[in-house]
Amino acid sequence: MEQQKRYGHFDDQHREYVITDPQTPWPWINYLGNEDFFSLISNTAGGYSFYKDAKFRRITRYRYNNVPMDNGGRYFYIKDGDTVWNPGWKPCKTPLDFYECRHGMGYTRITGRKSQVEASVLFFVPLGKWAEVQKLTLKNTSQQTKQLKLFSFEEWCLWNAATDMENFQRNFSTGEVEIEGSTIYHKTEYRERRNHYAFYHVNTEIQGFDTDRETFVGLYNEFADPQAVIEGRPHNSHAHGWSPIASHYIEVTLQPGEQRDFIFLLGYIENEHDKKFSAPQVINKEKAHQLIAELDTTEKVDKAFAELCQYWDALLNIYKVKTGNPKLDRMVNIWNQYQCMVTFNFSRSASFFESGVGRGMGFRDSNQDLVGFVHQIPPRARQRIIDIASTQFPDGGCYHQYQPLTKRGNNDIGGGFNDDPCWLIFGTVAYIKETGDFSILDEMVPFDNQPGTEVTLFEHLRVSMDHVINNLGPHALPLIGRADWNDCLNLNCFSMDPNESFQTTENVTEGSKAESLMIAGLFVVTGKDYIALCKALAERIENGEFSTLNSQFLAAEAARMQQAVDAMIVAVEKHGWDGEWYLRAYDYYGRKIGSHECDEAKIFIESQGWCTMAEIGAEQGMVAKSLDACKKYLECEHGMVLNNPAFSRFIYEYGEISSYPEGYKENAGIFCHNNPWVIIGECIAGRGNDAWSHYAKILPSYVEEKYQTLHKVEPYVNCQMVAGKDAFRPGEGKNSWLTGTAAWMWYTVSEFILGIKPDYDGIRIDPCLPETAGDYTVSRRFREAEYEIAIHPNGAQKGVKQIVLDGKPIEGTVIPYSKGRHTVEVTM
Ligand code: GLC
Ligand code: GLC
Repeated sequence: MEQQKRYGHFDDQHREYVITDPQTPWPWINYLGNEDFFSLISNTAGGYSFYKDAKFRRITRYRYNNVPMDNGGRYFYIKDGDTVWNPGWKPCKTPLDFYECRHGMGYTRITGRKSQVEASVLFFVPLGKWAEVQKLTLKNTSQQTKQLKLFSFEEWCLWNAATDMENFQRNFSTGEVEIEGSTIYHKTEYRERRNHYAFYHVNTEIQGFDTDRETFVGLYNEFADPQAVIEGRPHNSHAHGWSPIASHYIEVTLQPGEQRDFIFLLGYIENEHDKKFSAPQVINKEKAHQLIAELDTTEKVDKAFAELCQYWDALLNIYKVKTGNPKLDRMVNIWNQYQCMVTFNFSRSASFFESGVGRGMGFRDSNQDLVGFVHQIPPRARQRIIDIASTQFPDGGCYHQYQPLTKRGNNDIGGGFNDDPCWLIFGTVAYIKETGDFSILDEMVPFDNQPGTEVTLFEHLRVSMDHVINNLGPHALPLIGRADWNDCLNLNCFSMDPNESFQTTENVTEGSKAESLMIAGLFVVTGKDYIALCKALAERIENGEFSTLNSQFLAAEAARMQQAVDAMIVAVEKHGWDGEWYLRAYDYYGRKIGSHECDEAKIFIESQGWCTMAEIGAEQGMVAKSLDACKKYLECEHGMVLNNPAFSRFIYEYGEISSYPEGYKENAGIFCHNNPWVIIGECIAGRGNDAWSHYAKILPSYVEEKYQTLHKVEPYVNCQMVAGKDAFRPGEGKNSWLTGTAAWMWYTVSEFILGIKPDYDGIRIDPCLPETAGDYTVSRRFREAEYEIAIHPNGAQKGVKQIVLDGKPIEGTVIPYSKGRHTVEVTM
């Protein structure tokens, strides 16, 4: 194996990943921001900011897939004599005497040292503020006085990130700025319909500025050698059209040992339409002045930073495990939960692999993200469920994506992904189990955001299930539509035109026999959830709780769904079993996919995961055989591949899945997202050793230890896809950060491995562990209670023998919910 170089390490005490070499194998990024104002920041300060929507409100510009990589960001140029350097090494790439980047919870601190000057920048978005703070601390560690020239740099995006990259005939004439003291305002298109502007401020007097890119950088220069910095003087340029930027120029004298803070603030403001201007053509800056005043001293900024840290302390105190295995504890207690928050915020919209212009919030993606996030801030999860359900159609189908800014369904992609509706049950059930808030089911929610169409959320769940029931194929299995969870299994697409998107092209549906075993399993799992939900709500109504629904109706619904679920189980057992594993699908013509009879792709992971989670055919041994087949055919050193063997040629009838070269993405990549499905299947079957070995293979902290160079992407979070065993370089990761893997890894470890499962009436304790597991404790805040749970596995993989609650043994495995602090002892 090639020698694996290390680029950083975990610092668990500070909840940071510490990068010690700026030349990471790929930019290793972090996310700043909590609700409205967001930034992406790499380990060299590359990246960009936006307000709510990475497409429609891009504040600063970024060039994806650039040469060199990761070009554009918030850059500080420090000119010390003839030497120019940046604290984050890029863009000048002047060798530093010391470099360190610490990515933490909602902040990043980058420190560089050169010739006895230290520059440390703390980047974060304060809670509730529409701004990125950049607190730069300059320190003279030498014995001489230092005369430094400091230039800041941000490049404005002309708001719509898509047209910003293409409509140059217009863009080059629209750019406008204003300069007032130490603040540079970006107001392109403010004169017309936009009622928002951005600004870049520093809390000190400046000795000059630039706002025109060509003047500052020079037409044939690069970010690495901007003209103004080379000359050592600003030009006080005022941008008119072309590309507006913001650069402050500050002369700094530092005595030996002296240190000074500079607070830079990148802010975003919206004004009411009738209050846009303070004079003709002049922005009303009142709100900007206010925002600046809130963050213009070291004390104020330090306080805002302390608040952010407390916020994360509180969030990460909700579920805390102590196993004595630092690699597990740090993922459960820190990074997995952090990644869940990020995916909840961004769905799949903006990362270094998702350009922020293509995809809004996914219906299925966002519902899955909920299981990773709901314990943290339930009210936000609640709102998300309502937003998602509002993009549904009356027949239960739904838009596949919606835009975060407008919350409207995205017409470019449309609907027709037949797994989508089931995920609404999945997300809603997770929310109610966590909070006990059944009232969400009474919320009135529209279809397709049309006023006047409102029905209860419960009704949305009902039509979701019906969408599956009303769209069954010849084997009584669910019709797949455009695709199920696997966006690339396009069985009704039949496209030979490379300009058509596989996802949105559906050339034939009439007479299609294309059915999905993945949806079948998903339907059984969510159908059982739906039945349990109906029963739990009926029970509450009978105990006098208010609901607009009534218990007879719910009992009838539960019975109706039980029949549908039973019928689905029969259909899978009869038409979905291949002898050693579950089939994956039937194609348009009704031919098997994922069968030993096929030439390639004889077995797929998704149906193994969902049908084992659903325990279909467990008594006949199907579950155990399917799980064994996953080990035999799908597993490799880096995880389980999606299908095996990989497709070696394009298959017109299957669509995008066979468009990828072997071992990548949906063609036999290790699509980390679906590994947890099999792991949960293992846990339900009680096979703790196997569950753990699959889990550890894709657990970032284990990968971090062994494969930093090979893996390439951030070692502190999961990526969507790792190249599979058929790939040229198995183990290479791609598409980091925004992936359903985050929520699924969390759901798997928190509920199925460690075994702490929120339920309607309390917490169910049901761990599934490797035999080698020692005693561990979980502290879990649950609604208005705190549970301190100690688990003694005694070498068992599964099976709780006894639970002692506050010193008294209880019956069964559910700790009944009651307010206050409780101690729980669990013996397996
Ligand atoms: C991507 C999509 C997700 C899909 C998966 C498999 O991660 O965001 O919706 O399920 O790919 O195709
Ligand atoms: C591509 C990707 C898939 C993703 C889809 C989203 O098909 O392979 O992972 O879900 O695009 O549009």
